[in-house]
Amino acid sequence: MYNSWEELKKDCMGCTKCELCRTRTNLVFGTGNENAEVLFIGEGPGQNEDLQGLPFVGRGGQLLDKFLAAVDLDRNKNIYIANMVKCRPPQNRDPLPAEQEACIGWLREQVRLMRPKIIVCLGRISAQKLISPDFKVTKQHGEFIEKGGILFMGTFHPAALLRNPNQKPDALEDFLKLKEKIKEICERTY
Ligand code: URA
Ligand code: SF4
Repeated sequence: MYNSWEELKKDCMGCTKCELCRTRTNLVFGTGNENAEVLFIGEGPGQNEDLQGLPFVGRGGQLLDKFLAAVDLDRNKNIYIANMVKCRPPQNRDPLPAEQEACIGWLREQVRLMRPKIIVCLGRISAQKLISPDFKVTKQHGEFIEKGGILFMGTFHPAALLRNPNQKPDALEDFLKLKEKIKEICERTY
């Protein structure tokens, strides 16, 4: 258990709890406002993220930033962004269950320190790990589910939206629902 982001980040940056530590260039701890009420969680770093040490900095990240901006959210101001695993899986394969299990402790500590009101799962990997193992993004996107005092919502992964642009209107609807929910229950976000 950590009492400060500084200590947590320092220990996390040296993590060797799973094999992904061997192939990383940079560990991607997360970015944004550590006091945010809204936390976004992706899957894991891709190539650009691994090279820069920051989450969602490639094409998917640019698209994510557009959706965020559409609802007055900004990774440099009022949200935080992290991933299920903090080191890049080779060839961008899905992180293995064992890797997710090894890594989730770091995310738990981030959540404990941040105490977000809302967690948005970007894509199947984080939604199935954090909401329910059989979560189906195409069916359950945009639904808010309460767990342990935090509201969870799953939506499309930006990379999926790049592959299937026809899902963008549905994704935008999810972000608009998120905005309404934030207005309802958050105090410092807008
Ligand atoms: N995809 C993710 O899930 N996370 C990132 O940080 C980048 C791409
Ligand atoms: Fe540690 Fe997570 Fe990186 Fe594995 S993916 S080495 S558990 S930080």
